[in-house]
Amino acid sequence: MDYKSYFDIPEGISYFNTPGNGLLPKSHHAWRRQREYDFFNPKGDLREQQGPFIDTVKAAFGGMFNCPTANIFAVPNFSFGFNTLMEGLDSSLSCALLHEDYPSLNYPVLYRGFPVEWITVDAAIETNIRAVVATKKPKILLLSIVQYVSGVKIDLDFIKQLRNDFPDLLIIGDATQYLGTEPFDFLASGFDAVGGSGYKWLMAGFGNGYFMVSDRLKAMLYAKAQQMDRPTEAMWSNKTILNTFFEPGHQDTLSHGTLLQSINFFNAIGLENVQAYLNELRDYAYQAFKKHNLLLPIAEQRALKSSVVNLQIPPEWYPQLLELGIRCFPRGGGIRIGLHIYNDKTDIDYLIKSIERIKNEL
Ligand SMILES: Cc1ncc(COP(=O)(O)O)c(C=O)c1O
Repeated sequence: MDYKSYFDIPEGISYFNTPGNGLLPKSHHAWRRQREYDFFNPKGDLREQQGPFIDTVKAAFGGMFNCPTANIFAVPNFSFGFNTLMEGLDSSLSCALLHEDYPSLNYPVLYRGFPVEWITVDAAIETNIRAVVATKKPKILLLSIVQYVSGVKIDLDFIKQLRNDFPDLLIIGDATQYLGTEPFDFLASGFDAVGGSGYKWLMAGFGNGYFMVSDRLKAMLYAKAQQMDRPTEAMWSNKTILNTFFEPGHQDTLSHGTLLQSINFFNAIGLENVQAYLNELRDYAYQAFKKHNLLLPIAEQRALKSSVVNLQIPPEWYPQLLELGIRCFPRGGGIRIGLHIYNDKTDIDYLIKSIERIKNEL
C-alpha cells in the first residue's frame, strides 16, 4: 500500500522524525485551511460550537479506541493531562516508575512527593515490573508504553495479565509514542488511564491530546471536590466535576478538530492495515539495522519491536544526516528515528546508504 501518497513529502526528504513530531496528511492541510477560513467568518457559527464540537471529537476518539465518551478528556497535550491526573490523586499512594522514562511522566510524580519504587529497564522489563509489583506492592504503576529514547515497547498482553493477577493495582500508561501504530482497545487493555499527545504517531499536529480513564480511577480523582456541592452556574451545568479540572476553560477547536481528522483518516485506512504495514516495514528495517550493527543491545534482544529505533551512530552525525535529507533527532547515545506509514523500504535503504557514506567520509 502506498501510504506515502497521502502526504506532501518533497523529493530528497526521508522523514524519520515521528518520535519528535509526525507529519500530517495532505487532507488535514485542506481541512485546516477551510476551517480557518470558515472560523474567521463573522456570519458563521463555528465559534459558538466549541463545546459540542469537542464532544464530537471525543466520541470519534472513543469509537476508535473503545472508550466511552464520559471516560475521555480532551487535553492540549500529555503533560497537561498527566499533571491534572496526578494532582487529583492522594499523594500518599505509592507509585512504581521506570528509570529513564519520559520526564513529563516521572517528574510530576516525584515533585508531588508520591512514594516511589523504581523499575530497571532492560530486556526483561516485564519480569522486572512483575517483581516490583509483587514484592513492593505499589498502588500505581506508571509507564510509557513505548520508551522515548530506547524505543522499548511494553508487552501489552503482559499488562492485561498483570491487571488480572493484581486486580487492585492501578496502571497508568503514556501512549504518546504508541497510539496510531496499531488497533488499541482501552476497556480491554488492563489500563486505568491511557493518555498522550496527538502530534506524533496520531499525526494531528500540536495542541491536542487525550486521557482515557477507567470508572474506578475516575471515582478516586479529586475525591474531595466530587463530594462537595457542585457549582450551580448554568454555564457549567453540562460539565462534570472532573471536566472542570481536565477541560477547564475553552478548547482550541482547530487543534482538536485536527485530531478528529486523524481519527477519520485512520478509520478510512484501517488501523489493522497500519499495523500490518508497519510490521512488515519494521521486519525489513530491523534486519538491515542488525546487519549493520546499528541496534541498541536491548532492541536486539527483545522480540517485541516498536516503531521507535535508537540507531547506534554518533549523535554528532546529526547535521550530516540532515544535509542528506534524513529527518531524525539525536537522543541518548545515538540518533533516534521512527518508522511510520509515510516511510517505506526505499527510505530504509537510503538511510543505510547515507550512514555508510558518512562513515566512509570520516
Ligand atoms: C513518551 C513520551 N510521552 C509524552 C511525550 C510528549 O509530551 P508533551 O507533548 O506533553 O510534551 C513525548 C514526547 O517526546 C514522549 O516521548
